[in-house]
Amino acid sequence: MNEFYSLEKKDSVVRLLQITDPHLFSAKHDTLLGVNTTDSFQAVLDQIQHSPFNYEAVLATGDLIQDHNPEAYHRFAEMVKQLGKPIFWLEGNHDQQPQMSLYLAKHSHIQPEKQILAGSHWQILLLNSQVANAPSGNLSFGQLAWLESKLAEYPERYVLVGLHHNILPTNSAWLDQHCLKNSDALAEVLSHYPNVKAILHGHIHQEVDAIWKNYRVLATPSTCIQFKPNCNEFTLDLLPQGWRELSLFADGRIETRVKRLTSNEFLPDLRSKGY
Ligand SMILES: [Fe+2]
Repeated sequence: MNEFYSLEKKDSVVRLLQITDPHLFSAKHDTLLGVNTTDSFQAVLDQIQHSPFNYEAVLATGDLIQDHNPEAYHRFAEMVKQLGKPIFWLEGNHDQQPQMSLYLAKHSHIQPEKQILAGSHWQILLLNSQVANAPSGNLSFGQLAWLESKLAEYPERYVLVGLHHNILPTNSAWLDQHCLKNSDALAEVLSHYPNVKAILHGHIHQEVDAIWKNYRVLATPSTCIQFKPNCNEFTLDLLPQGWRELSLFADGRIETRVKRLTSNEFLPDLRSKGY
């Protein structure tokens, strides 16, 4: 495997799409809290393909599967193939290694690289914050060392860091106990590289666009169920499924927005007490 992926650009703006937390099942008709995750993911992919946003690559930020059956990775790979773009991914707490790498590697449109040199001005670094058998996140010494080495390799490039777990609280006790536990260690590594611009994540199934230690922190709705912010007990939200468009400019600026399904046909079972 190449150590990095070179995303060639004709103009100076890098355009990306983030999809996150599809929670797919190996069986097509299985549901998560009343939502058929295959159908809601397909609806998202359909709407993306009818959108005028002309992106170069897709970042899939974890929880690609739900039922611990690696066959669901084939479902993910087969479904995103219709986008016709390179797909990059990182691990969520519901994902399973080494099956995730092994199954996704069978699909040529799924890229294994975690360092993306995007055009002439940006690099994107994808981290694994998964902790085996735990819903919370942690960046291992190896991940932090890798991050530091990649930041040092191209200090003149602006940086977008991707990982699964949240850094900032959602003001929801049930969810915030599962955040990234060593965000201070991440901050320490990033602090030496002023060109780091933003941190992009999934996990919390809701939209965030906030500032943490001078970095823009972006989180994105799931393609299946949504969690309502500011709720100490488990609470589902009725907002439609979504994804994120990102434009990275040559001067380090980021323009981004969340898009959602225009129809709200995939409603969860509100009697659910957890997941
Ligand atoms: Fe998730």
